[in-house]
Amino acid sequence: MKEVKICDLDFQGRGIAKIDGKVFFVRNALINEVVKIKLIKENKHFSEAIAVEFLEKSSERITPSCKYFLECGGCDLMHMKYESQLDFKENKIKTTINKFSGLVPIINPIIKADNIFNYRNKITFHIKNDIGFFEKKTNEFIKIDNCLICNQDINDLISEIKKLDLSVVKNIIVRASKKVSQKMLIIETDQDLNVSNINGFDSIYIKKGNDYILKIGQERINEKMNNFTFCISPSAFFQVNTEQAIKLYDKVKSYANLTGKETVLDLYCGTGSIGIYLAKSAKKVYGIEINEEAINDANINKKINRVDNICFYALNANQFLTKISEKIDLVIVDPPRVGLDKKTIESVLKIAPSKIIYVSCDVATLARDLKMFNEFYNVLEITPVDMFPNTCHCESITVLERRY
Ligand SMILES: C[S@@+](CC[C@H](N)C(=O)[O-])C[C@H]1O[C@@H](n2cnc3c(N)ncnc32)[C@H](O)[C@@H]1O
Repeated sequence: MKEVKICDLDFQGRGIAKIDGKVFFVRNALINEVVKIKLIKENKHFSEAIAVEFLEKSSERITPSCKYFLECGGCDLMHMKYESQLDFKENKIKTTINKFSGLVPIINPIIKADNIFNYRNKITFHIKNDIGFFEKKTNEFIKIDNCLICNQDINDLISEIKKLDLSVVKNIIVRASKKVSQKMLIIETDQDLNVSNINGFDSIYIKKGNDYILKIGQERINEKMNNFTFCISPSAFFQVNTEQAIKLYDKVKSYANLTGKETVLDLYCGTGSIGIYLAKSAKKVYGIEINEEAINDANINKKINRVDNICFYALNANQFLTKISEKIDLVIVDPPRVGLDKKTIESVLKIAPSKIIYVSCDVATLARDLKMFNEFYNVLEITPVDMFPNTCHCESITVLERRY
């Protein structure tokens, strides 16, 4: 077994070691550790491996709380003290922004999580006659009976899910709202499955291709964020860590610093949650989202929360931007990991809001996009938010101000 010394961490939190010009990416290894590795994948210039024996241990190491940590690969940092995870994420944001945009903005301390376990309100289980996950980068099926980062309500329902005929099921998605405790089960299968023996869910869907067929219970489940209630359809995006999403929205609201006179665009609005959260402080809000079901939710959410100065459109973000002629003061974007496309950025530059707030779940695409905005906007500051403790993923909020 090869012995290596770890000199750095990559953006996925893997240890980096170098021997004779060859790079090794080593899971479960920390900086300065000397470890024996098991090779997982060999390429010409680099290899992927996992640390299996520790000759010199880092003081930042802890024993992972999850028994599946080494095989599952869903969590990347569970072997690292939480304070070190936060340092890793702040550093990742700093170095990626500098490397890919050339910018050196203020990076504020990360908004940490109070609960680093049992935070996810949604999970996709893979099914192979049993419930599990696929090992990272392989198709190896790992059977599990508990996922430590999932809302405990989800774990408590695993035994119920096992009553299904899993031989005909591809995937299972479970949503369990954190503050309201409603549960939705989505079963991905080509077959007509009997679900009448399953208890404990407020809503059960079968997903065939892109169609969601309601089998039992209510169409949507509810979640609460401070004084707001949001309903969520099976296909709609909703922030997976409700407690951290509240902190994220509060920070967006404080960055927006609305006076009641502003017209705000909430692009990539999902179920309308950010726009609704801010609407009472603005003159008018537009929410734009490509998924029609999410826009249906957004319109219900508008009513539930008694907000009447917000309009939602089921459109591609850029389609809306090219049509609007009204003066927009603030644009909030919260795109998927791919970030913004060039045309959308050009359209935002054209409508020239005085402020842009960019909520990002991928710092590499954020850096690329900030470089484009930088011609006309100052990147004032970035606040990272730890939405996904124990994983290498990091959310952030960036404030940009137009140069006059
Ligand atoms: C990261 S989510 C943000 C949702 C929302 N802001 C929230 O906090 O819940 C990104 C959303 O963008 C939507 N989306 C993806 N591509 C889009 C596009 N081209 N135009 C508009 N919406 C899009 C997705 O359906 C998804 O709901």
